[in-house]
Amino acid sequence: MPQSYEYDVLIIGSGAAGLTVALNLPEHLSVAVISKGRIASGATLWAQGGIAAVLDSADSTEDHIRDTLASGAGLCHEDAVRFTVEHGRESIDWLVDRGVAFTRDENAQLHLTREGGHSHRRIIHAADATGQAVSTTLSEQAAARPNIDLMEARVAVDLITNRKLSLPGNRCVGAYILNLKDSHVELFRARFVVIATGGASKAYRYTSNPDGASGDGIAMAWRAGCRVANMEFNQFHPTCLYHPHAKSFLITEALRGEGGRLLLPDGSRFMDRFDERAELAPRDVVARAIDHEMKRLGADHLFLDISHKPADFIQQHFPTIYEKCLAFGIDVTRDPIPVVPAAHYTCGGVMTDNRARSDVNQLYVVGEAAFTGLHGANRMASNSLLECLVYGRAAALDISRKADEVPPPPPAPDWDESQVRDSDEDVVISHNWDELRHFMWDYVGIVRTTKRLQRAKHRVDLLAREIGEFYSNYRVSNDLLELRNLVTVSDLIICSALQRRESRGLHYTLDYPGLLNEARDTVLIPTSYRQPSA
Ligand code: FAD
Ligand code: SIN
Repeated sequence: MPQSYEYDVLIIGSGAAGLTVALNLPEHLSVAVISKGRIASGATLWAQGGIAAVLDSADSTEDHIRDTLASGAGLCHEDAVRFTVEHGRESIDWLVDRGVAFTRDENAQLHLTREGGHSHRRIIHAADATGQAVSTTLSEQAAARPNIDLMEARVAVDLITNRKLSLPGNRCVGAYILNLKDSHVELFRARFVVIATGGASKAYRYTSNPDGASGDGIAMAWRAGCRVANMEFNQFHPTCLYHPHAKSFLITEALRGEGGRLLLPDGSRFMDRFDERAELAPRDVVARAIDHEMKRLGADHLFLDISHKPADFIQQHFPTIYEKCLAFGIDVTRDPIPVVPAAHYTCGGVMTDNRARSDVNQLYVVGEAAFTGLHGANRMASNSLLECLVYGRAAALDISRKADEVPPPPPAPDWDESQVRDSDEDVVISHNWDELRHFMWDYVGIVRTTKRLQRAKHRVDLLAREIGEFYSNYRVSNDLLELRNLVTVSDLIICSALQRRESRGLHYTLDYPGLLNEARDTVLIPTSYRQPSA
């Protein structure tokens, strides 16, 4: 018999965003944090470079804002940028107070590194494994809080709203959650629900992201009636390790920040032909330049080289990369690293305001799943973890303020499994996974055309029908749920890309190579959308 639960706050996702919300809530509220993997998981665990914040006296808030706006190619919302940047220092202080062991210099000051688009050294980091330091510290802190239940191996299937229960109002009241340990779907009712499920880069064949980045929260919020924006801006990181046995391993941009050079197969540099900032140009520029050179030369990868720096400097600053590459026979103190671009970050997402509120009452969206307006057409490096921290705290403050006014969730029915059976055709799911990720890479990648996007749209519509049928007839599994969500999110990416008739930031199309005078967000509205109430 599946369990059912009731909490004040249900947080779906335990990355930097979800755990920041949980740890900023008052201890009299009961909180469940669920994760489909381990609690220390998600893209957060794998983050390398660091967190951007203005800490150096030579740097300024205005410079961080200006750099972010420039990277975002005219599409950032300046209020969101200012809000985030102005809360940078307090976010870092909060992490330090929680016990995150950032790298310090010889004077015990936080060491600042540099990444693309930043005009100053402003990236706070824990060597080249910043995410691990943040993730493990916040998970330990959350585990020590008596009001927080941490629940692993649970996958959110769908949100429960008043509308789905045929009740008046536009409120989220919980979610159905698949318990992977016994394969039953459980009912979680809550006064507040927070989506913190990360991005959707698994829609692409090659990605820097860990398993699980299947855009579940974006798809669930869309189905619940929330608007999504700017989904065409999927960021490709320029430098993932190219090796037949290396799955999704990133080579941090901080390596270029510390002097790493991009090289063609003949050993020559090329980035200055594309941008005067060369290796430290914003990410869209560098990824496109690499893609261009690979296609021009028929090369399946290029190289990133830092071997001109002293070996002990490299080992001290980039211990994770040094060890990982060595395991593949690449000694980065001597050899250039073979690299390729890969899907890395979802700049678009569920539309939220500066308290992380979505279009559905009592439903908050934080972190990579959200669209706050911060990133515009291209996220600047290391602004993402900062966004998780700033908006995670904003969500927690808003929930705390409203906690006394919001009534308990209404009763909701258990998940109905009476009409479904076990699948005898799981091959359909794995085949469709492969097909989707292939055509998204080939047709909706770094360089697009209208014809390729239309081809992708045709295919995604077929997959949506097939998966819809599968979902209605068979018992749910994690693979089926992820595929269903990826198909939805891919459709949102393709539809957004088709709407944008210009090349801006990460969206580059041969059919519209120019930039329109007016920068506009691409906002998609679900048929079930209702005007948000105050
Ligand atoms: P995540 O950390 O991805 O966490 C998502 C959580 O949701 C996980 O716990 C997952 O289990 C859970 N989840 C997902 N779907 C479901 C579901 N249906 N049911 C239940 N649980 C679910 N950004 C920076 O600012 N600096 C960096 O240095 C940096 N380096 C990066 C390096 C790599 C390799 C990658 C992939 C990304 C990097 N980024 C970096 C981006 C940044 O790490 C992410 O954007 C950020 O960590 C997202 O945090 P999040 O909390 O929104 O989601
Ligand atoms: C990196 O370390 O290169 C990733 C940083 C980011 O995605 O912000």
